[in-house]
Amino acid sequence: MQRNPGKIFCIDALTYAGNTENLADIPRDGRYIFVKGLIQDAGFVRDMIKNHGLDAVVNFAAETHVDRSLKDSVLFENTNVKGALSLLETSINSGVRRFVQISTDEVYGSLEKGSATESAALNPTSSYAKSKADADVRLQALAKNLGYEGLVITRSSNNYGPYQHPEKFIPISLTNLLQGKRVPVYGSGKNIRDWIYVLDNCDGIESVLENGRNGEIYNIGGGNEYKNTAIVLQILSIIGKQWGKDTVQLVKDRSGHDFRYSIDCSKIKKELGWSPKTMELSDGLRKTVEWYKNNPAWWKMTTESPAFKKYVQQHYVETHGMKE
Ligand code: TYD
Repeated sequence: MQRNPGKIFCIDALTYAGNTENLADIPRDGRYIFVKGLIQDAGFVRDMIKNHGLDAVVNFAAETHVDRSLKDSVLFENTNVKGALSLLETSINSGVRRFVQISTDEVYGSLEKGSATESAALNPTSSYAKSKADADVRLQALAKNLGYEGLVITRSSNNYGPYQHPEKFIPISLTNLLQGKRVPVYGSGKNIRDWIYVLDNCDGIESVLENGRNGEIYNIGGGNEYKNTAIVLQILSIIGKQWGKDTVQLVKDRSGHDFRYSIDCSKIKKELGWSPKTMELSDGLRKTVEWYKNNPAWWKMTTESPAFKKYVQQHYVETHGMKE
């Protein structure tokens, strides 16, 4: 088998959420190769692995937006569960030595207090979280059935940073404010998430890929738990605006809105020596605001598209009662 050490092949279906511009910062020196394709397409995946001598697979491919999962659970099941299973099976049969499955803190469900360790019971509620929890369990079973030892799973908290799709909370808040529109805050805004700067998550995933113990799960969190209202206040302060009726709109709550996610990350810190470099949320948010300010052409590709305008109308105006 021909080996290509150091080469990374990015396989992406380029759905509504994908965009080759998202990887524009990566040097074009032959080490990174983009290929459009589906993880469910076993023949295609097998050819990629065999023809290029790929020895590790990191599965980031997923439908990830909770709001969309509330309306299309079958799509989430197909991509996140069946897609992941197909990818793992093909990878094992094609000789891949390590398979990293990217999962989420949402599989542990909503916690009133305390933080979930990797051995906590799974208690997912949204169709998104359920699909990711199912994938974790099914992949572990498949690996066990086939005698494969190379599976590792990461469970990350809420990512934020450059190139995040405008449908997610921090980007919709920012892109709305930068256009003189209001931030749509669901319910009371008291829901709590732990936020991790995207590059810290990538560092954690790389540590797990290289040094994670076979068969293990690793939580990767930012250690930054904030209420949604606190996030909005920080963003407003960075861009020099104030909370008021021109900047924020409390809208109808998300159905089944989980109150709080929280993970205990001592395992990855102790075993792999990882910790987030962007310790303070305010530092990460400042970098993120700067990036969105400097890259309007990137996010306007989405926000000005007919598909996104339709999504805003159906989701924010019709479902959440947002007023323009
Ligand atoms: P989101 O970015 O959708 O991530 P997740 O639901 O997977 O954690 O949402 C983060 C939080 O922000 C969540 O509590 C829901 C809330 N939220 C809003 O208040 N308004 C919005 O427009 C969106 C998209 C999310």
